[in-house]
Amino acid sequence: MSVIRSAVIGCGAYLPAKVMTNDDLAKLVDTSDEWITERTGIRRRHFVGEGEKTSDLALKAANAALADAGITAADIDIVIVATTTPDDTFPSTATKVQAQLGMTRGAAFDVQAVCSGFIYGLSIADGLIRTGQARTVLLIGAETMSRLLDWTDRGTCVLFGDGAGAVVLRAGEGEGGNHDRGILNTKIYSDGRLGNLLYTDGGVSSTGTAGKLRMLGREVFKHAVTNIAAAIEASTQAAGLSTTDIDWFVPHQANQRILEGTARKLSIPAAKLVSTVAEHGNTSAASVPLALVTAVKDGRIKRGDLLLLEAMGAGFTWGAALIRW
Ligand code: UT7
Repeated sequence: MSVIRSAVIGCGAYLPAKVMTNDDLAKLVDTSDEWITERTGIRRRHFVGEGEKTSDLALKAANAALADAGITAADIDIVIVATTTPDDTFPSTATKVQAQLGMTRGAAFDVQAVCSGFIYGLSIADGLIRTGQARTVLLIGAETMSRLLDWTDRGTCVLFGDGAGAVVLRAGEGEGGNHDRGILNTKIYSDGRLGNLLYTDGGVSSTGTAGKLRMLGREVFKHAVTNIAAAIEASTQAAGLSTTDIDWFVPHQANQRILEGTARKLSIPAAKLVSTVAEHGNTSAASVPLALVTAVKDGRIKRGDLLLLEAMGAGFTWGAALIRW
């Protein structure tokens, strides 16, 4: 049986130039390189400079992905930007990127699922492609989390960073089996009852400001491994696979302990875990594509490999995706 599959035909990423090490942060708040490294695995993160916006990062990642795919903006039907830090309340960051790419057709919109935004975006893009509404989708995860940080809260300001990653998805034909190239399936979930564990203390219709990021870290940690593991099991089972079939595990980069804990729980060997958290911290919706692009560019991920992507974040939202590269 012939089915439509969404294959990743190109990817690219961008990290802003300004780098802050753990020692740099220790000059701002009561923390240390030792604490941050031991508890999170993070060693440095990138921050935007003055006037640098989410759309600027998104555009750079998008251009890199388009060049990698060997196509131009004129070939794109839909632009999706997964972000929780849009340039402005409206219009969407995606429509700004659309204009900056020189696109004069198609559609563009943002997805707001915080750290799970890229997985949600993959799910939406796959749906649009499979139903024939789009042939080529540009999906970008882009964040300027530094704009939301409270520089007096050492429990959160050391964890996050800025960056962007993008993929180009294109319709292709498959046989409906798990050897097809492209997205095999996506699973997305949320539980709004847990919204008070990770949130901003402001918003357009509440305080009229963006607010600052607040997190009960230990509580979030407790839910993370369980939720992620459940999404992964749903995804692998739906494809008739198990985690032993995975070539590369590309998780949301929040905390090295969560990455390793999840891999252990699912019997995924550490050698298959793609970890970039040390280099850029938690970049929310940008973190999965940043890790993905790193492992593609350094030659670890090769055509035909089976990839397992996952994320979990505020909402709570979480999800997983299986991709045959
Ligand atoms: O992307 C969305 C998903 N987010 C996450 O997945 C984050 C999940 N949570 C975590 O990654 C971890 O809970 C944290 C890294 C946020 C915290 O690690 P923890 O091992 O859970 O530490 P804790 O919050 O239990 O704090 C332990 C101690 C506390 O001191 P006391 O109460 O034991 O005296 C904190 O005040 O560490 C202290 N602490 C710090 N010390 C030095 C908290 N932040 C810092 C800091 N530097 N930056």
